[in-house]
Amino acid sequence: MVTPSENAPAKFYATTPIYYVNAKPHLGHAYTTIVSDALARWHRLIGDDVHFLTGTDEHGLKIQQAADAAGLAPQAFADSIAPLFAEAWGKLNISHDDFIRTTEQRHRVGVQKLLQACYDNGDIELDTYSGLYCVACEAYLTEDDLVEGHCPIHKKPVEYVEEENYFFRLSRYGDRLLQWYRDHPNSIVPDYRMNEVTGFIKQGLLDFSISRNSFSWGIELPWDSKHIAYVWFDALANYITAIGYGTDNEMFNSHWPVDYHLIGKDIIRFHCVYWPAMLMSAGLEPPKGWAVGGWLLVGGEKMSKTTGNVVNPLDLIDDIGLDGFRYYVLAETPYGADGDFTYEGLIARYNSDLANNLGNLLSRVATVVGKKCGGMSPAPRSDSPLALPAAEAVRETMARWADVQPSRALEATWQLIRATNAYLENNEPWKAEPGPALEAVMGDALEALRIVCILASPAIPETAQTIWERIGMPGQITAQRLPSAVTWGGYPGGISIDKGEPLFPRRKLTEN
Ligand code: MSP
Repeated sequence: MVTPSENAPAKFYATTPIYYVNAKPHLGHAYTTIVSDALARWHRLIGDDVHFLTGTDEHGLKIQQAADAAGLAPQAFADSIAPLFAEAWGKLNISHDDFIRTTEQRHRVGVQKLLQACYDNGDIELDTYSGLYCVACEAYLTEDDLVEGHCPIHKKPVEYVEEENYFFRLSRYGDRLLQWYRDHPNSIVPDYRMNEVTGFIKQGLLDFSISRNSFSWGIELPWDSKHIAYVWFDALANYITAIGYGTDNEMFNSHWPVDYHLIGKDIIRFHCVYWPAMLMSAGLEPPKGWAVGGWLLVGGEKMSKTTGNVVNPLDLIDDIGLDGFRYYVLAETPYGADGDFTYEGLIARYNSDLANNLGNLLSRVATVVGKKCGGMSPAPRSDSPLALPAAEAVRETMARWADVQPSRALEATWQLIRATNAYLENNEPWKAEPGPALEAVMGDALEALRIVCILASPAIPETAQTIWERIGMPGQITAQRLPSAVTWGGYPGGISIDKGEPLFPRRKLTEN
């Protein structure tokens, strides 16, 4: 028998939603993906064994219709869009370990196994559904959900549908779900979303249809090939099929249950009500956690292909730089709340936090060390006045990442940057004579900068590495491990400093 060693790293499995391939990647998709990526990077830094999954959602009526409109077969259509997501995530430096497409064979096998498990457990039965359906949501709506007769999210008319379908007996799971949430009160972050979920369950759950027989773009039910699986049943299963459910038991057992599903608030019911019930039915454990994000709005509206207010993240990178964009997305809005994307906001955040704070700190340190220490770095003092602010920044940054609050984590990290800039302003090393006093100040500032680099690296991986190298640190930041790597005193001193070009030149607002 293999017994895990006491020091075996904790596993950390995190997922993004899988994105519909009816639209090209936009800022809204990038938002959830960057937050997930930064969280995954943070967990690698604290030594967890991370598995980070993203992918694309390729079945269902919405995709079938988009393919029809493009004059392509659905598979060919999906094949033309899915790579755009993979490419965009490459450009955004997303560190996913796997990318699943729901048209892959491993997914088909796993979905059929899940369907069969729920069916064998008596939770799937044939029935007739009649009611309203929004194709853009791929969801049934009630009259009460509508706003002026339209879907409240997509502002489009809904369809009346009547079909004989297989139903999942969600109504049987209300009590079990409520009990589960009572036993796991911290599983949904931010915590205010928990009430929304339990409140919805308490209203009484309706069974939901899990099959379609009016079109064929999907995965056949194993016991009735006239029906295909409802796209949400199919899509949710990606979180287990990608880690081997139905194809690689050992891998599945080593990753499941997931630590965090990162999702947008619009898909909370699917993830926090339907999905755990489906898992319970199949005899699997519910997720350990959900991190529910708000929307990044443009002009007060959710960005979507359907409403036509799409911002392409890749255009923004060309303008502000990759890490400038990643930083903005992570720092601007507390995770969970809605944010309003504006170009002015992007430039303002970049100029204040990156150009004026971080960029300025690096250039001051490198300039003074270059001019007054012969380009060789001094070592920090163990009793430095910056040691306490550094320890506080470390503690707070760690706590905020643990809560999935990247904006607060970065705020805590930036406190150390501010404290270090203030320390330099008080000591004015640029005016001081070379000598031990000046060297002490510069050694302290370099050590603070080293710690900042590590703490900020999940958000701005490329630039953090560049700063790391400029201050003479060897190797990759990604090889650093917390907490030991951020304990005060790790900067060795006596290494040559490279001033380099400004990392974050100030930007002016441009017309476009
Ligand atoms: N395919 C489903 C998810 C299935 S997961 C098993 C889907 N896809 S989506 O492409 O429409 O949206 C995916 C995610 O992107 C959702 O969490 C949604 O909230 C998020 N966003 C899409 N537009 C967004 C913004 N404008 N702002 C923030 N997130 C948004 O739903």
